[in-house]
Amino acid sequence: MPSISTSLSWLSVFGLLFSPQSCLALSKKDRLACQRATHDPLKGCPKHTLLVDAESANATAKKNVFSSIQSAVLSLPHDNSTQYILILPGQYTEQVNVTRPGPLYLLGQTSDAASLAKNTVEVVWHNATGTATTGSYDNAWTSTLTIAPTFNSSTTGAGPTGNHVPDDTPFGNFDFRAYNLNFTNDYLPYSAGPSLALSTSYANTGFYHCSFKSYQDTIYVGKLANSYMSKCEIAGQTDFLYGFGTLWIEDSDLLMRSCGGGITAWKGTNTTYENKFGVYIHQSNVVAANSSIAPAMVGKCALGRPWNAQHRSIFANTYLDASIKPSGYIAWGTTDPRVNNYTLMAEYKTYGPGWNQTGRIDGNVTHILTEKQWQPYSSPSKVFQFFKSGKTGNSAWVDWNA
Ligand SMILES: *[C@@H]1O[C@H](CO)[C@@H](O)[C@H](O)[C@H]1NC(C)=O
Ligand SMILES: *[C@@H]1O[C@H](CO)[C@@H](O)[C@H](O)[C@H]1NC(C)=O
Ligand SMILES: *[C@@H]1O[C@H](CO)[C@@H](O)[C@H](O)[C@H]1NC(C)=O
Ligand SMILES: *[C@@H]1O[C@H](CO)[C@@H](O)[C@H](O)[C@H]1NC(C)=O
Ligand SMILES: *[C@@H]1O[C@H](CO)[C@@H](O)[C@H](O)[C@H]1NC(C)=O
Ligand SMILES: *[C@@H]1O[C@H](CO)[C@@H](O)[C@H](O)[C@H]1NC(C)=O
Ligand SMILES: *[C@@H]1O[C@H](CO)[C@@H](O)[C@H](O)[C@H]1NC(C)=O
Ligand SMILES: *[C@@H]1O[C@H](CO)[C@@H](O)[C@H](O)[C@H]1NC(C)=O
Ligand SMILES: *[C@@H]1O[C@H](CO)[C@@H](O)[C@H](O)[C@H]1NC(C)=O
Ligand SMILES: *[C@@H]1O[C@H](CO)[C@@H](O)[C@H](O)[C@H]1NC(C)=O
Ligand SMILES: *[C@@H]1O[C@H](CO)[C@@H](O)[C@H](O)[C@H]1NC(C)=O
Repeated sequence: MPSISTSLSWLSVFGLLFSPQSCLALSKKDRLACQRATHDPLKGCPKHTLLVDAESANATAKKNVFSSIQSAVLSLPHDNSTQYILILPGQYTEQVNVTRPGPLYLLGQTSDAASLAKNTVEVVWHNATGTATTGSYDNAWTSTLTIAPTFNSSTTGAGPTGNHVPDDTPFGNFDFRAYNLNFTNDYLPYSAGPSLALSTSYANTGFYHCSFKSYQDTIYVGKLANSYMSKCEIAGQTDFLYGFGTLWIEDSDLLMRSCGGGITAWKGTNTTYENKFGVYIHQSNVVAANSSIAPAMVGKCALGRPWNAQHRSIFANTYLDASIKPSGYIAWGTTDPRVNNYTLMAEYKTYGPGWNQTGRIDGNVTHILTEKQWQPYSSPSKVFQFFKSGKTGNSAWVDWNA
């Protein structure tokens, strides 16, 4: 591990000194000053920060005060300017949809930005598709938060490459960040059909001290999306991390609310350039959501299953509780395994009661990586690629120090 942390701190120094985008970044000190509750909530915030206040009965009467997050987002110019939105405590029942390209910070007001449990803001939506009663429409409609340049680019679609996205679709947001916010889709308290809390495509998105909760398909990291999550909590049951893009989860908790499908269900596509699209879970915990449900889950939850054979996911240096199946990952189905020599369903130095070496070998679908095999994926900068060129190192938008 020393080599990884060394390379991360080197990168953060490099980013601060040389990346033009980081010059725009809000320092941690300034961010904390803005998030802290003060008599004038905007005290300590960057100039022109917008305020969202669920409690404000006639918010629009005041300049720069909004009663919903989406109304604040929609008031922003569709350009490359850096913008900030401070959100006061409350439950916001709405879908938030960000299409603008410029850096955008969504900040939750909090007395302790280092503690997820102290988050005061929850954004909630109630929608699902493909259930017994909903009818079927694209998963994109269901999401609580969407960051994508167009609706079509955010759709999941079907088939090996999903819904066609027109070639002239621009990149969406290149530096979206959310701090201390909870995103929930509570359509049903069990897995019945896709019910997204986050949908992001053609965008770079960072989440810090955020929670994402639903039961099925909770997080969609779609086409050409790069997403980084640190110190977050993701609670789900079935295929709750899925997509076509690249997701790095660091120092976070994955909470299993029951077992269904797999934790990860990635669909790599081989129609683009050579890529590192996949989901990487690093230095995190994979555990039953609570102790009441844990005993019934022992040995039953799969780390993942291949949405198609180009699935790539790696759990690295991560704790697994006893809920995990002896085989680790599973094939999609017995008659439709979707496993071939492109499939990378892997672990590197996972540990805890969920790690069973004999079980992994007997199961014959999980790759146990050597250090050499892990190296090409071993840091966010090695897996986040630039739009179109496919070059790696697209990580100036990552906050290494949240
Ligand atoms: C609503 O706005 C008006 C005009 O700015 C102000 O006088 C009034 O106090 C506000 N009411 C509330 C509940 O904020
Ligand atoms: C906005 O920023 C992106 C990414 O840095 C850049 O590619 C694009 O040309 C910029 N657009 C304008 C209008 O400056
Ligand atoms: C936000 O999520 C965390 C983690 O689940 C939880 O402890 C906290 O109470 C939540 N806050 C709100 C306002 O929902
Ligand atoms: C989910 O949202 C879509 C799009 O807005 C809507 O057509 C559908 O009726 C909603 N479904 C439910 C179950 O609310
Ligand atoms: C998001 O907003 C864009 C622009 O207003 C709109 O075209 C798109 O349909 C919206 N997407 C969703 C999922 O609501
Ligand atoms: C979005 O995709 C649908 C289905 O493929 C297509 O009918 C529609 O024309 C597309 N819309 C745009 C704006 O590209
Ligand atoms: C434990 O988690 C399950 C699944 O999310 C939930 O239904 C149940 O209410 C939770 N129990 C407790 C005691 O929190
Ligand atoms: C690419 O994926 C498609 C669909 O899964 C498959 O038919 C095709 O053989 C693959 N091509 C290569 C080179 O793997
Ligand atoms: C993968 O399998 C195909 C045939 O199914 C074979 O042609 C190819 O050489 C294999 N590639 C590797 C890297 O093993
Ligand atoms: C490990 O996996 C094997 C199946 O390959 C199983 O027989 C054994 O009971 C497992 N051990 C534990 C502790 O679950
Ligand atoms: C393991 O899986 C591979 C395909 O990935 C297959 O060729 C091989 O026969 C399997 N081995 C056993 C012992 O089932």
